[in-house]
Amino acid sequence: MADDLIVLGIESSCDDTAAAVVRGVDILSSIVHGQTDLHKDFGGVVPEIAARAHAEKLDHCVEEALMQANIGFDQLDGIAVTAGPGLIGGVLSGVMCAKGLSAATGLPLIGVNHLAGHALTPRLTDQIAFPYLMLLVSGGHCQFLIVDAHDRYRRIGGTIDDAPGEAFDKTARILGLPQPGGPSVEKAAGQGDPNRFVMPRPLLNQPGCDMSFSGLKTAILRARDAVIADGGGLTAQDQADLCAGFQAAVTDMLTEKTRRALEIYLAEAPAERSFAIAGGVAANGPIRASLQQLCADHETAFIAPPLALCTDNAAMIAYAGMAKLAVGAIDDLTLSARPRWPLDDRAAPMLGSGKKGAKA
Ligand code: KG4
Ligand code: ZN
Repeated sequence: MADDLIVLGIESSCDDTAAAVVRGVDILSSIVHGQTDLHKDFGGVVPEIAARAHAEKLDHCVEEALMQANIGFDQLDGIAVTAGPGLIGGVLSGVMCAKGLSAATGLPLIGVNHLAGHALTPRLTDQIAFPYLMLLVSGGHCQFLIVDAHDRYRRIGGTIDDAPGEAFDKTARILGLPQPGGPSVEKAAGQGDPNRFVMPRPLLNQPGCDMSFSGLKTAILRARDAVIADGGGLTAQDQADLCAGFQAAVTDMLTEKTRRALEIYLAEAPAERSFAIAGGVAANGPIRASLQQLCADHETAFIAPPLALCTDNAAMIAYAGMAKLAVGAIDDLTLSARPRWPLDDRAAPMLGSGKKGAKA
């Protein structure tokens, strides 16, 4: 890719308003304004509140990103924006903002698939070679992709219902732990016994790389109610043991399905053997350690970009946009926002829709 292209990226597909300036693989600025406080009373992201907050924040965010990068519009080569998949109001806010900027400056407009942003991040951070195996695992996504090129992805499996981050968040809610659930469940699990409550591992022994996490919340709810009926309440140790049992089940499922995905990928004899992980759940210590060990056993490089680039951000959108710009794949003012936009058009559509937006 041209090392000297400078692209502004804009991201607003879920609950983070973000803008970034990237030159080649150098991130000159990356601004992310979260909306956790706005949604915390509702137990999930409220699309209308998110869209309004994006519309209010986007231009400040862009200004901040340009200022921090010390780059003017006249130095940019293009404007990349998430055009889907995601919550339609938020995606529309970003697309309208980018169209306005493109119309005013004459700069090329590039519509980017949010999942492509995540999937190409290991190239931005570690310059790994194609093809590589990728696990996207967050509050809204969970899928295995073989990334053949910036515009060629094969989805070889994924969740058929909830995303794992969603399951962490629901578990926290059921047990009265703070949101987001991932970090609080992980912390509690560290003090718990994973063998006291053995949680189900759906689809574990079924062939293929598909996964299911929605049964876990029912299992946690039942186990919690049984403990309360028995002991009259939930102690901190009960909470910790339930979290440990839950986390062990998620870790086992992700590890076993990653083992199968690796087998499919490695059977193709890639020149360099690389596995990358992205999404908020990639922050989980035990899950990360288990996948890292699996990769070591399979003599495959394990790449986990820094957390700020694993979760939603606009640097990944700028970078994915740059890859399109470099081959002339640009859009015009007819660019539309797409709530659903699978990276792999040939794969069967995934079921369900996460609380954090449409799964693809
Ligand atoms: O990628 P992300 O920031 O946003 C999207 O979902 O797009 O991921 C957020 C998700 C939340 O569900 C959160 O609970 C989960 O990632 N998460 C974790 C951890 N940190 C964040 N899950 C497990 N363990 C963690 N340490
Ligand atoms: Zn995301």
